[in-house]
Amino acid sequence: METANRSETGEAGETVETVTRHYARSGSLAQSILDIAHRFADGRQPTVGDLAPLDQFHMRGEEATVEFAEMVRPKAGEVCLDLGCGIGGPARWLATHCDVEVLGFDLTESYCQDAAALSRAVGLSERVRFACADATRLPLAEDSVDLVWTQHAAMNVPDKAALYREVARVLKRGGRLALHDIMAGPEGLPHFPVPWASAPEGSFLLSAREIRALLAEAGLEELVWHDHTADALAWVHRRRADIEAGTPRPPGPHLFLGPGFKEMSSNLGRSLEDGRITVHMALLEKP
Ligand SMILES: C[S@@+](CC[C@H](N)C(=O)[O-])C[C@H]1O[C@@H](n2cnc3c(N)ncnc32)[C@H](O)[C@@H]1O
Repeated sequence: METANRSETGEAGETVETVTRHYARSGSLAQSILDIAHRFADGRQPTVGDLAPLDQFHMRGEEATVEFAEMVRPKAGEVCLDLGCGIGGPARWLATHCDVEVLGFDLTESYCQDAAALSRAVGLSERVRFACADATRLPLAEDSVDLVWTQHAAMNVPDKAALYREVARVLKRGGRLALHDIMAGPEGLPHFPVPWASAPEGSFLLSAREIRALLAEAGLEELVWHDHTADALAWVHRRRADIEAGTPRPPGPHLFLGPGFKEMSSNLGRSLEDGRITVHMALLEKP
């Protein structure tokens, strides 16, 4: 696991500090996740499939990753970059189901360590690698990547113009950017704390219209754009109904992300219901 391009000073440095403090608040996660997966796998060695309910840190979890991959159709053998890879759940899923080689970059050092440890535990170290870096300053050559994949990370990035310029720089011609992100809704800021930020200082949402304009400015051509806000809302309502009915809760991040996670999840649902956030998946190409 490498560390690159993370040191910043001034306002940018404070933002990095705010974002990484938020995500690192529960400390090292890999061993707790492996213990939980082991328990739910009736004591056998956990697989990527056993980790999937626990390691996908975005709305609708693995279900959304499957849909996203169906839209993107990564090609076997492609070099894929996962920006804001978290603890590596989507990267492991992609390597296993789409036969791609994944390089995951994340700002939060402990997440990069967890990502590497979990991948080692399921025998994937050769095909998924992780490094600690800022997605707006990637330690990669230009025209070097087939596919940039990113889920629920851009909402922590204040300079999204820099993010999409950097994506366009590292993509090969004909390479694609696949994004699955939370964006601003029409009704004001989300209710804080939310799963990606304890307070407004760590959250930088733009509307889908603003994001599309920045992507176009970066020279990326839109191939597909889907608004998934209704699916996310249906998922929130399903989960709430299950909890109210006392249905046994399947394993998930609530088991290890600490006592504050309940309030964050509930605020996520309220923010969706109140039109304060929207959810989108899109595919773009570097022409
Ligand atoms: C909500 S998590 C999503 C993780 C992963 N994409 C997933 O879906 O499981 C957001 C991640 O983005 C990372 N992140 C935020 N800002 C970043 C930046 N500027 N560069 C790289 N990673 C960043 C955070 O550290 C965090 O791990």
